[in-house]
Amino acid sequence: SMFKKHQILLLPGDGIGPEVTVPVRELVSEINRSESGSQGKFQIELLEGLIGGAATDATGKPLPKETLEMADSCDAVLLAAVGGPKYDLLPYELRPERALLGIREHLGAFANLRPARLFPELVDASTLKPEVISDLDLMVVRELTGGIYFGKPRGIVEENGIRRGINTETYTEPEIERVARVAFDLARKRSHRVTSVDKANVLESSVLWREVVIRVHKDYPDVTLDHMYVDNAAMQLVRKPKQFDVIVTGNLFGDILSDEASQLTGSIGMLASASIGGKTGLYEPIHGSAPDIAGKNIANPMAMILSLALLLRYSLNREDLAQRIERSVSSVLAQGFRTADIAQVKGQVLGTREMGEKIIREYSRV
Ligand code: NAI
Ligand code: MG
Repeated sequence: SMFKKHQILLLPGDGIGPEVTVPVRELVSEINRSESGSQGKFQIELLEGLIGGAATDATGKPLPKETLEMADSCDAVLLAAVGGPKYDLLPYELRPERALLGIREHLGAFANLRPARLFPELVDASTLKPEVISDLDLMVVRELTGGIYFGKPRGIVEENGIRRGINTETYTEPEIERVARVAFDLARKRSHRVTSVDKANVLESSVLWREVVIRVHKDYPDVTLDHMYVDNAAMQLVRKPKQFDVIVTGNLFGDILSDEASQLTGSIGMLASASIGGKTGLYEPIHGSAPDIAGKNIANPMAMILSLALLLRYSLNREDLAQRIERSVSSVLAQGFRTADIAQVKGQVLGTREMGEKIIREYSRV
C-alpha cells in the first residue's frame, strides 16, 4: 500500500546535543516498529543535518543552505543544541547561536511554547517547597522571531574613541497579535487564563504590546486576561507559580522567565519546547549545549525526548503517541531512576544512554 513517511530533520548540533540525540534515534525506531502493524501505517523517516559549531567545522558556516533546504522539505525539525567555548570568539554572524536565530526566522516559527509541568516524582528535585510547586503546570508562550534579538540597529560602534553596544527592542502590531492569538487559543484548551508579561511602565514596545493583547482578548471573552510587569512576574514565578496558566511575553522576557520556570520543575534537562506558527514546526529542548558536562554521558536526555513528544503532538497530530512518551518518562521516574541533574534527593543515577534505554523499553511496554 502507498503511504508517505513523515520526514523529520534531526539536528544534533554541539556539546551534549549529539549525546541527547542518540535516544531519539532509538525511540523513533521503536515508534516505527510499534506502528508498523497498525492500520494507519504511520512511519517516521529521520534525516540528519548540520547546524551550529558542528556545521562551522564541516562547512565554514553555522547554518548551511542545505540545512535550510532540508528543513523546508521536512514535516518538522528537531534540534538539540548549539554553541560552545570553541566558537565564542567568532564574529556574531559566524557564531553557532546565529544559526539558532537563523533557522527560527527562516521557518517563521514565531510562537515558542514552553510547557513547565512538574512530574510528581520530581517534587523533591526542585529547590522550592513541595506545596509551592506540586501539580504545577504552566505554559510560557514566548515570541520568538522579533524583539531585541532581531531588532535593528544592532552592533558595536565607536564614537570619539568610546565604544557603544547597541540593540533595539521593537515589535509591530501584527507580530504581537499573532502570538497573542496562539496564547489565547492554547488557554482555551487549558484553564482559560492568560497573563501577558511586559514592561509597559518603561518601554514603548511594551505599551503597544499591552494595547494589542487587550484588543485581541476581545475575541476571547471566555478567557481571563491579566497583565504583569516582567520584574514582578519573575518574583511571582518563585513566590506563587500556581497562579499562572498561560504566560505570553516577548522574546527576551520569555527567554529568561522560561529558564526560571524550568527550575520550578527540577531541572532545565526536563523541559521541551515547540516553536510553531510557520509552515514547519521546530522542536528543541530549552537547554543549551552544556559544554561543562559534554562528552561525559551524564546529560539528561528527557528534554530532548519530550521535544519529540511535542513534535508528535503539534506537527504530526499524534496526541496519543505524545502522551505515550510522556507516560514512559513518568513511569521511569516513578521507578526511581534519575540522571545526575535531578538526583539531589533520591534515586538511582543513570547516564544519558542508560536513561534513554530505560525510557524506550518503557515505551515498548506502556
Ligand atoms: P546550558 O543550558 O547549556 O547550561 C546551563 C546549565 O544547565 C549548565 O550547568 C549545564 O550543565 C546544565 N544543563 C543543561 N542542559 C542539561 C541537561 N540536558 N542535563 C543536565 N544538565 C544540563 O546554558 P549555558 O551554559 O548558558 O550555555 C552553554 C552554551 O549553549 C552556550 O554556547 C550558549 O550560547 C548555548 N545555548 C544554546 C541554546 C540552544 O541551542 N537552544 C540555548 C541556550 C544556550
Ligand atoms: Mg535561554
